[in-house]
Amino acid sequence: MEVFVKSGSPEKQRTACVVVGVFEPRRLSPAARDIDRATDGYLTKLLRRGDMEGRQGQFLMLHNLPNILPDRVLLVGLGKERDLDDHRYRDAVEKLVQHLDGTGSMEAVVYFPELHVKGREIGWKVRAATEAGALGLYRFDQYKSKVERPRRPLRRLTFCVPRRSDLREGQAAVDRGMAFAHGVSEARDLANQPPNVATPIHMAEQAQSLAEEWNLDLTVLDANQMEAEGMGAFLAVGKGSVNPPRLIAMEHKGGDPNDKPYVLVGKGISFDSGGISIKPGSGMDEMKYDMCGAAGVFGILRAVAELGLPINVVGVVAAAENLPDGKAYRPGDILTAMSGKTIEIINTDAEGRLVLADALHWVQRYEPETVIDMATLTGACIVALGKQAAGLMGNNDRLVRELADAGDDTGERGWQLPLWDEYQDLLKSNFADMKNVGGREAGTIAAGCFLSRFAEEYEWAHIDIAGVAWTSGDNKGATGHPVRMVSQYLTERAGG
Ligand code: BES
Ligand code: MN
Ligand code: ZN
Repeated sequence: MEVFVKSGSPEKQRTACVVVGVFEPRRLSPAARDIDRATDGYLTKLLRRGDMEGRQGQFLMLHNLPNILPDRVLLVGLGKERDLDDHRYRDAVEKLVQHLDGTGSMEAVVYFPELHVKGREIGWKVRAATEAGALGLYRFDQYKSKVERPRRPLRRLTFCVPRRSDLREGQAAVDRGMAFAHGVSEARDLANQPPNVATPIHMAEQAQSLAEEWNLDLTVLDANQMEAEGMGAFLAVGKGSVNPPRLIAMEHKGGDPNDKPYVLVGKGISFDSGGISIKPGSGMDEMKYDMCGAAGVFGILRAVAELGLPINVVGVVAAAENLPDGKAYRPGDILTAMSGKTIEIINTDAEGRLVLADALHWVQRYEPETVIDMATLTGACIVALGKQAAGLMGNNDRLVRELADAGDDTGERGWQLPLWDEYQDLLKSNFADMKNVGGREAGTIAAGCFLSRFAEEYEWAHIDIAGVAWTSGDNKGATGHPVRMVSQYLTERAGG
């Protein structure tokens, strides 16, 4: 999808379709009023006849209206004006592109940025619309033998801003929105791949092509090199699989060489069967999504590189497959992590924290500004926060707050959970420095506590995306969380 921004009156647009909002009950948006005036009250009459109530999700396509230049006018119901919030606004754009795609209009001029969204300025409205517009037609159909696409698909959206003086900010918002959308698509594409394709080696190959395309430096460690680094926790997880593990680091060098980098670390379990502590069978296919943290890192690097942010960013992916086998690690094993700390394994299904422990220790070599890890880490996070928010934890409240704010801004929300010292007792082991799981209580926090022990040397935050990284059911698919949250955070750090 191509996205543009312009300003001008709706009745004067030479376009296949002009899109204007209607609020409930039968209230015209400013652009709809312009059309109404130019057509001698055509829309007013139509509303009076009861064709369009303005309910959320209602569409009415009009052809051949008198006295105006656009071929079509699409009325979009937006619900009650004062209820138009972030979520409804994005949702309206998403539904709009899905609707338009089948109408024969290959392009449209959309008058949504003029609408009043509580607490949001023009830049936000253009960016949010750009993202929703660019992602609304996202599909993952590369494994379907037959794909039915409209004969005349939607190709181009133009968002209209109220004033010419809004154009500069509008264009910047389109650029950022497109970069974020490309990052999200990148993450979704990688995460949606089946686990027989998206192995750790496949992730390393993807890193190679991303690095080539976007001029990133690339480092890939294989099992021997990880062995040499002493990564006993990471390596144990991959032992039961014939697909060998990889530690991948991609570097965007947009800042001064002396600037400390922002380091991202993604959990990249290409498939999580649970290992010897095997998971129940139902829904296990969804454990291909246990590399969504890694996919997020790819997407964020892509967005950061496309925007050319003037900061240094390192994206690290800890990739391994967790399977049961004669060579697999077992409950009772004691592992020595790269940091020298020892870990008693209680449950081989708590594998994410093990690969992350070594990756978090390893990234000290970059002398990071901050480190943010992202991981589908605990089922307990879904119990605590459901699908509406990622779990946020860390050793620096300012960093956690900045991520939460970036989440509010982008709609990829996060909610902080505490990492008070008292929780660390959950991990006491009789035999080693710690065990890899606590008990039944505070599972997400226990995992956060575990990670915190390997992230003591820098400012660190952890994003548990178990509940938000993908949707189940009929619309099963990766969401691309937390690409927008973290890309927004980095954009702010780079100076807005
Ligand atoms: N990848 C899972 C967490 C998960 C489960 C994410 C379901 C999304 C949906 C993780 O590796 C795991 O298995 N965690 C265990 C930890 C437990 C053994 C302490 C869990 O959550 O059950
Ligand atoms: Mn697991
Ligand atoms: Zn897992």
